[in-house]
Amino acid sequence: MPDGSRIQYKDALSVTLEIHPGAAKHVSFMLSSLLELPQRKASGLKLAVLTAYDYPTARVLDEAGLDLLLVGDSLGMVVHGLPDTTGVTMEMMLLHTATVCRGVKRTPVIADLPFASYRTPEEAVSNARRLMDCGADAVKLEGGVSMITQVAAIIAAGIPFVGHIGMLPQSVKEEGGYKKKGKTSEQIDRLIADARALDAAGAVAIVLESIVPDVATQITGLVKASTIGIGAGLGTDGQVLVTHDLLGSFPWFRPPFAKARADVAGETLRAVREYIAEVSG
Ligand code: KIV
Repeated sequence: MPDGSRIQYKDALSVTLEIHPGAAKHVSFMLSSLLELPQRKASGLKLAVLTAYDYPTARVLDEAGLDLLLVGDSLGMVVHGLPDTTGVTMEMMLLHTATVCRGVKRTPVIADLPFASYRTPEEAVSNARRLMDCGADAVKLEGGVSMITQVAAIIAAGIPFVGHIGMLPQSVKEEGGYKKKGKTSEQIDRLIADARALDAAGAVAIVLESIVPDVATQITGLVKASTIGIGAGLGTDGQVLVTHDLLGSFPWFRPPFAKARADVAGETLRAVREYIAEVSG
């Protein structure tokens, strides 16, 4: 983006903020370090989190005033066209994490450890370090009690850690689909045990994915870590969405809880068709 248009964009943003007092309030509180998470949880002001996988998106999201950015392994599906996240590799995560970090000035960046990249504590620490070397501020992996030795090793190595419990996309094959969690008392007990284990290990935040809302709210009240919900109701400390779902840039599938606030795919089709018509006369 040339400097001139960037200044215009920033001016436009500040005008928007002035006429939306809520947004201005949010921007003045936006997170600039993971160390601010406990204070933020205590304040009750919700965290706004989105995924980013490329430089221009990361740069715009950073300027927009998000609290956290996640280089999620969902990139396997919405960027690389894979059927699920189990085909995502460390090389893909390293490339996208470095790309996103180049676009960000303030927003803390969390990077996902992909499928089969944390089978032992040693492997988890080594791959977490590689993501941190790309500029990430924290790493995330899926699982609670069953992954606690890996989580403890990452935290003992001085690497800030974000947990992820509930519906775990990397386990889609074992689970036979994407299933909401917290519907039975056994599942609720397991979720609470997972959240407590991650919290005791020192996770700075925990993603709660596709969990019955009352259970997600209960977990939020039990842990010191900030909870970030996706398909888990409004009782968590923050919300995360896949940016492609928010922007309508992956129209072939969008989860029911994700409200599309733009139609980027539709607008791209329109612009490209207009171009084709103009070029071909
Ligand atoms: O990979 C991802 O984008 C995620 C979010 C869905 C939480 O883990």
